[in-house]
Amino acid sequence: MSQILAIQGSPRGERSHSRRLLESFLLAWQTQDRERAVLRREVGRVAIAPINESWIAAAFQPQEQRDEVMLADLALSETLVDELFAADRLVIATPMYNFSVPSGVKAWVDQIVRIGRTFDFDPENPRSPYTPRLLGKKALIVTTRGDHGYGPGAINAARNHADPYLRTVLGFLGIEDVTVVAVESDEYGGQAFEASYATAERALGELAASF
Ligand SMILES: Cc1cc2nc3c(=O)[nH]c(=O)nc-3n(C[C@H](O)[C@H](O)[C@H](O)COP(=O)(O)O)c2cc1C
Repeated sequence: MSQILAIQGSPRGERSHSRRLLESFLLAWQTQDRERAVLRREVGRVAIAPINESWIAAAFQPQEQRDEVMLADLALSETLVDELFAADRLVIATPMYNFSVPSGVKAWVDQIVRIGRTFDFDPENPRSPYTPRLLGKKALIVTTRGDHGYGPGAINAARNHADPYLRTVLGFLGIEDVTVVAVESDEYGGQAFEASYATAERALGELAASF
């Protein structure tokens, strides 16, 4: 059985384009096979706690040496990491905010990049000090932007720290198979936005069969 973990990153509800595209993609994906399951994790409209000093101390303490306070500090992180391991597919729907991702998506990333859980660190390892642990998974990033030209090679590509950032994080954890579908020109509206949205919708419709 295949399971998607769907991360909803927009603080907007009904008005959110990334959320709407995510839902139509999930519907199309599930329609292919009734055994397919989806777990939604809201990070845009529900606050994900930012990590703090006690969280960091707990995360770097060997598991068997964590006291009850440390275990409580890591409880949300453990849940979010368990959700990732339970899924063989990950879909992140997120707007671009200030050239990066909204703070909820960043907070989720900080909670799931965990030493000893999603990656290992061994400075003595001659191959690489980092060993990813999230293997055998595929990811899809559905991202929406107000301006345009953020794609590879385009005029604003160097300003795009949203999906390239997520790609870096996922690769670090072992998810190398990442597809990005983007909608641009939300702030301009009109035909530019409608054409971009329609292209993304089509790409997602096709991807639903092979993802
Ligand atoms: C706080 C904020 C910051 C934004 N920053 C950017 C940005 O840096 N670049 C950009 O192209 N659009 C930016 N936008 C526009 C959003 O990316 C765009 O409206 C997107 O479609 C919103 O996604 P949603 O419809 O899923 O909520 C920003 C919007 C907001 C509200």
